[in-house]
Amino acid sequence: MSEIKLFKGDALEILKHLEAKSVNLIFADPPYSLSGENYLTCKSGKIAKCDKGSWDQIENIYEFNEKWIKECIRVLKDNGTIWISGTLHNHPSIGVVLKKLNLWIINDIIWFKPNAPPLIQKNRFVPSTELIWVSGKSKQYYFNYEMAVRLNNGKQMRNLWEIPAERHKTPHPTEKPEKLLERIILIGSKEGDVILDPFMGSGTTGVVAKRLNRDFIGIEIDDKYFEIAQKRIEKASTERNLIEFLEKSTRGATLHLEFYPKKEKESY
Ligand SMILES: C[S@@+](CC[C@H](N)C(=O)[O-])C[C@H]1O[C@@H](n2cnc3c(N)ncnc32)[C@H](O)[C@@H]1O
Repeated sequence: MSEIKLFKGDALEILKHLEAKSVNLIFADPPYSLSGENYLTCKSGKIAKCDKGSWDQIENIYEFNEKWIKECIRVLKDNGTIWISGTLHNHPSIGVVLKKLNLWIINDIIWFKPNAPPLIQKNRFVPSTELIWVSGKSKQYYFNYEMAVRLNNGKQMRNLWEIPAERHKTPHPTEKPEKLLERIILIGSKEGDVILDPFMGSGTTGVVAKRLNRDFIGIEIDDKYFEIAQKRIEKASTERNLIEFLEKSTRGATLHLEFYPKKEKESY
């Protein structure tokens, strides 16, 4: 049975109260800092100002990223890993902070969304990737290579991950696909490990952690999103059969992800 701890509030404060070296894997999907006057997007076929919410307007993205990453590193076990997703708006600052804190950068994963929406403006390429920095405290870190191979139908997994963006299950504007988190959690942790998401949004990481029989700590500052995440994680089930299959089988697991029971779309 997974142990789930959810905190409503500012990650910068709450992280300070978590025990040092108590977490095996951190997935963080922090504010991108792409909302505001200068950023445009496409809504219903029209150009619109990009506004993900006030949480996405950060005054000094370098300072912000340094503060929360430092705290995360304090709570990370010595062989744990931290996975940080972002777009071009924030990933340069994350890279600088990872270097400044002397972390070992294991990989930069390019998440390619083949179904990314088209651009209306004809002045640049269509954004269809996000970057995920993967780092550890040293070169001694947990990484389930066999699992990665298994999830990739018996071949070495590359750092280019083609995973389509999914129809959102909640009203959160930046909900991540569960398939992305399944891959990260299966490769970066074991059953019973502790997963932390300091910016949990709609709770995707918590849902997948619980499904895969890991403990979970989630932090979210926004009341509405916190409630959505809480309900969503409560409803999530643990897929014991799939885990046994994935851990013991020597066959490729990709096909068998279909073993997840097909659920009706839930509303939150
Ligand atoms: C990019 S979204 C995460 C989306 C999430 N991965 C999902 O699948 O739904 C970032 C989230 O961080 C929250 N947030 C922003 N600043 C925060 C802070 N200082 N402490 C905790 N949560 C924060 C926002 O409210 C937002 O829901």
